[in-house]
Amino acid sequence: MNQEKPKIALIGYGKMGKEIESLAKARNFIITDIFDIDFPIDTTKEYSFEVAIDFTTPESVVDNIKKVATLGKNIVVGTTGWYDKIEEVKKIVEYYQIGLIFSPNFSIGIHIILKLIDEASKILNEINNYDILVEETHHRHKKDSPSGTALKIAEHILHNFKAKERIVTDPRDIDSKSIQIASLRLGEVFGIHRVILDSEFDTLEISHTAKNRKGFAIGALLAAEFIHRKKGFYEFNI
Ligand SMILES: NC(=O)c1ccc[n+]([C@@H]2O[C@H](COP(=O)([O-])OP(=O)(O)OC[C@H]3O[C@@H](n4cnc5c(N)ncnc54)[C@H](O)[C@@H]3O)[C@@H](O)[C@H]2O)c1
Repeated sequence: MNQEKPKIALIGYGKMGKEIESLAKARNFIITDIFDIDFPIDTTKEYSFEVAIDFTTPESVVDNIKKVATLGKNIVVGTTGWYDKIEEVKKIVEYYQIGLIFSPNFSIGIHIILKLIDEASKILNEINNYDILVEETHHRHKKDSPSGTALKIAEHILHNFKAKERIVTDPRDIDSKSIQIASLRLGEVFGIHRVILDSEFDTLEISHTAKNRKGFAIGALLAAEFIHRKKGFYEFNI
């Protein structure tokens, strides 16, 4: 990772924006601007930030990326629920020659889980006698469903386990070739992801529970250091 700290701007001053602000200050990052729905980025102005960090909404994120690109600045995208527009966003990054890094989950723990899932699903591919469920639980304010992280987990399984061909969210659509993602919403839960493997003989569970939002914020700041002065489209990885 590039260790030089960029000057940052926060786009979205909600739960994640505030968490990143407090961690960024503790880690000696300079925050030059904070944007939110009532104080949006103005592409006619000049700003001194070098990397923007977007934690907003699925509806606004692509427009925010476009504005940051127009300014010729780099961006970390933590917002989820926009991945059907990924090709459009790649074109923006290419056209404006900026750097963008995104992840549905910036916590290091989830990336360890993804590596475990890669290994487990390669073994499943050999023996193929387990049924699979991906389950995610988040706070009741979450706008997208299923979570971007649950989709990412299911995509990793699909990539390695050839007997499974698609993701379903409605239990009525389940068949032997599908992986079901179940989404639950409860109170103020930060994020729980579980992968349950079930056979005739046993049940295995791989799970990740976020205890707070700090893990996401630390990862987003690491990503800001990484993307500083780079060009191109990147997905966060460890
Ligand atoms: N990648 C990760 O690790 C990770 C972790 C947690 C949350 N998330 C995602 O980040 C996003 C934000 O989560 P949150 O919990 O902070 O939500 P939140 O609702 O607390 O905050 C969102 C903020 O964005 C602001 N906003 C809306 N439209 C805007 C616009 N056009 N310009 C600027 N600001 C705007 C809202 O006013 C609000 O303050 C969600 O998509 C969530 O799924 C990702």
